[in-house]
Amino acid sequence: MGRDCKNLFLTKKQQKLCNRDDGMVLVLLDAFRLSLTECRQQFKHERWNCSMTNDAQRLNIVKEGMKETAFLSAISSAGLVHAIAQGCSRGTLDRCSCDDVSFSAEANREAWKWGGCGDNLKYSQRFLKDFLKNRSSGSRDLRSKMERHNSDLGIRTVRRRVDKVCKCHGISGACTTQTCWKQLGPFHSIGVDLKEKYERSVQVILANRADGENELVRRRQPRPEEKIYPDSLTSPTSPGPGDLVFERESPDFCTPSKYSEGTGGRTCDKIRTCNSLCCGRGYNIRSVMVTRACQCRFHWCCDVICQRCTTREEIHLCRA
Ligand SMILES: *[C@@H]1O[C@H](CO)[C@@H](O)[C@H](O)[C@H]1NC(C)=O
Ligand SMILES: *[C@@H]1O[C@H](CO)[C@@H](O)[C@H](O)[C@H]1NC(C)=O
Repeated sequence: MGRDCKNLFLTKKQQKLCNRDDGMVLVLLDAFRLSLTECRQQFKHERWNCSMTNDAQRLNIVKEGMKETAFLSAISSAGLVHAIAQGCSRGTLDRCSCDDVSFSAEANREAWKWGGCGDNLKYSQRFLKDFLKNRSSGSRDLRSKMERHNSDLGIRTVRRRVDKVCKCHGISGACTTQTCWKQLGPFHSIGVDLKEKYERSVQVILANRADGENELVRRRQPRPEEKIYPDSLTSPTSPGPGDLVFERESPDFCTPSKYSEGTGGRTCDKIRTCNSLCCGRGYNIRSVMVTRACQCRFHWCCDVICQRCTTREEIHLCRA
């Protein structure tokens, strides 16, 4: 197929897992594309915009334990679990197929039964447990614990967005019986959830417990408006399972650094984003010609015919 698990920057163990299934390369590529596209979408108005085109800057972000690192770790794991579960149900992968919920008390009572082809989260989570093992388990240091926490949160976010979808059977839509299956929510909704968690992420440190183990604890006491999770009642300073956690404060990403190119030259929205994006340096206005589809009309049936209109527009560019 020309594509190979070797070209994906995987560890030896991950390559082995990848090689076991002919379809896995495509699914992994799909997962990377999915999480990168969504990350860019979520951060397009931020100073750090998830461009990830400069390798050195990307690696510096990945190894720093900042809020951005936390988001990347969660969205990458979410992308993997999502793509693999769909790889099963769509038949891209050989070693798994549709979700096999064949019996449930719930389905028995109601006028529907499980059927169809559900996205296989069960397989996907089992696979990832092995696939992410080296990164996540056993390690006692702060970075690995954070990585695991954030990665688990990403996976849980996908799980919480699973819907039951049903199809009616019966003559002319009478819907006397229904078949239902589990379907993953659109990945964009997972991106939205995780971006919200990024905004509220919690700074942590490593603390020693009485039994000699160590654990993540909040660096500061929660502010009053922060949610108190049930488990933080027993151990008041633990981050909740729904909190993204980070260690280091992020830089402001305003000027070129080892993390980003800075915001000079970025296009901004005069009313909404120029102020924060340009970091107080102001912006230049440039007049450009823009061609767009316009005066679109619907022709029965089924065509949309548009004209192309060119207008002069002003764009705003952050000063360097
Ligand atoms: C696990 O990860 C560490 C670095 O995080 C690396 O040094 C080690 O070689 C990895 N082990 C395996 C088996 O891939
Ligand atoms: C992201 O920022 C970089 C420079 O910081 C810029 O070159 C790039 O066009 C930006 N991407 C988007 C989608 O705005």
